[in-house]
Amino acid sequence: MTSDEQTRQKRAAAERAVALVESGMVVGLGAGSTAMFAIERLGARLARGELVDVRCVPASIGVGAVATRLGIALTTLETNPVIDLTIDGADEIDPQLSAIKGGGGALLREKIIAQASRREVLVVDASKLSPMLGTKHSVPVEVAPFGWRSQQRFLESLGARASLRLSPTGAPYRTDQDNHIVDCMFGPIREPETLARALSARAGIVEHGLFLGLATDVLIADATGVRHETGGERR
Ligand code: A5P
Repeated sequence: MTSDEQTRQKRAAAERAVALVESGMVVGLGAGSTAMFAIERLGARLARGELVDVRCVPASIGVGAVATRLGIALTTLETNPVIDLTIDGADEIDPQLSAIKGGGGALLREKIIAQASRREVLVVDASKLSPMLGTKHSVPVEVAPFGWRSQQRFLESLGARASLRLSPTGAPYRTDQDNHIVDCMFGPIREPETLARALSARAGIVEHGLFLGLATDVLIADATGVRHETGGERR
């Protein structure tokens, strides 16, 4: 797929998702280039007066800044602990609608927002589809800086090629929570639930990018149009 076609698909999926937003809703805003198309569309609908009284919880400081620039009102989970609908991207998605997320580094806030949402709508282009999670993308794992090398060894013991994410300057990447990310290439993950449990049980691992059973809706754009899949069971 050419990058122009991929951009077209990302925009198509994102714009379809924004059609699900209604006046009065609290909306979660994910990170990444596909979610950014949704934020732009949401800003345009608000500016035209098609939607009113929409407040948004952004998944990163950067997303919040863009939303504010576009005139989108922000709120917090303290004020609005339940989100009506979240629109977010994904790095890889399987036939059960489980996903790998965190390529953009916002996985902790994205997962908090997803779990607080009545509807979690993922928007993807066709390149994100995968028969089994881990086939295409590494699993980002957010770790506390204290003892991060011990976490790297632990992740390797689980079968991953585990590398510390670096920022463009070459320094270790810092999340909005000031943690590091270790990107873990596992290859196809046969038992994602088992892996997720092992990661969650480890002190020093703050969160991981396996989003299992969290999506209620996935909008998948391909060359022919946008397909709407539902049925991911909320846990
Ligand atoms: C952000 O942390 C990720 O979870 C994104 O959803 C992911 O990286 C998708 O990004 P693109 O939409 O740019 O592919």
